[in-house]
Amino acid sequence: MLVEPFGRLDQDSALRQKLLPCCRLKKGDIWVDPASHHRIGVCDATKKSDILNLFGKEKATLAIQDPPYNVIVGNENTHNLCKMNLHNYMAFSQQWVENTLVILADHASIYVWLGADQKDHFQPLPDFMMLMRNYDELTSRSFITMRNQRGYGTQKNWMAVRQECLYYTKGQAFFDVNAEYTDIPKILRGYYKEINGQVTENLQRSKSENIRAGNVWVDVQQVFYRMPENVPGCYAQKPMKAIERIVKASSQAGDVITDFFTHSGTTLIVGELLKRRVISCDIDEIFAEITIRRLEHFRKTGKTGWQCGNPFPEVKEFRIENLDIEEDDEIPRIQTGTQTTLF
Ligand SMILES: C[S@@+](CC[C@H](N)C(=O)[O-])C[C@H]1O[C@@H](n2cnc3c(N)ncnc32)[C@H](O)[C@@H]1O
Repeated sequence: MLVEPFGRLDQDSALRQKLLPCCRLKKGDIWVDPASHHRIGVCDATKKSDILNLFGKEKATLAIQDPPYNVIVGNENTHNLCKMNLHNYMAFSQQWVENTLVILADHASIYVWLGADQKDHFQPLPDFMMLMRNYDELTSRSFITMRNQRGYGTQKNWMAVRQECLYYTKGQAFFDVNAEYTDIPKILRGYYKEINGQVTENLQRSKSENIRAGNVWVDVQQVFYRMPENVPGCYAQKPMKAIERIVKASSQAGDVITDFFTHSGTTLIVGELLKRRVISCDIDEIFAEITIRRLEHFRKTGKTGWQCGNPFPEVKEFRIENLDIEEDDEIPRIQTGTQTTLF
């Protein structure tokens, strides 16, 4: 079974040598979208000069940051992935957080996706929470958990099936508990209550319009190769549904939103669909190129990703083939016991 015959794009140096000449941006370059004025740069999120150059005079009302998590998932014997030591990871985090504060508007929201390594004192989540306490202008608002698919493989250890997202605001940030946000289904059955003489069951009552926004997201399918939004090679792609929920709740049409770690370009596609202007970057030219191509592909075909197709048709090695998977199989790209991912 060959789901992704190529390895991680940031680690496969032979493939990188083939892809790099296809990238229109080099380090420090910025692409300005002629149609909707989005901006995509090859920038280092930790470098203030890069971020100021990317933003110019613009300010963002929403930042959705999805940095590398510093967590190894899966079978740690099979890969040569290395974690940063926590001290260095926190220095890295402090730099990009401070750069985010520089470009945030007076009234703004910031969401940060993170992991917690259960084999290593849950780093970096608690350390990151402590870091965020240092910024008086930020108010903590919610600690969201998004459920991943259940894992396969070893029966011995706990399988991490969650990703964490911390939500903070600055000033009087916009927040709309829209239908999408309150759409999260109740998953506990069997709690009955009498309402207006009628016995109602828990699941039935979850359809009420007055339900509060929940911070345990159990209704988001992790991206895998059968989904139209799949971007081959992007090992840490976030589902559009999760990003849409954030964008709809914490921004309005016409707002500038940002994401310093664009990777597959999920925030850009969601921003385009919801009429936000996106200013985004990645340190890696290849992910910046994929992000721009994803937008172009969307405008040309109406498709939000390539499913099993090839974002770089000019590089024949970059191709998913030999799919011999049962129709109903759900093979998430990350968090499985057979694959090791550092994200
Ligand atoms: C977890 S992924 C982001 C996934 C993204 N939200 C998506 O849906 O596709 C992290 C990305 O951060 C990028 N990255 C790592 N260090 C960076 C830095 N210092 N500045 C900018 N980008 C960085 C990596 O190249 C990688 O593409």
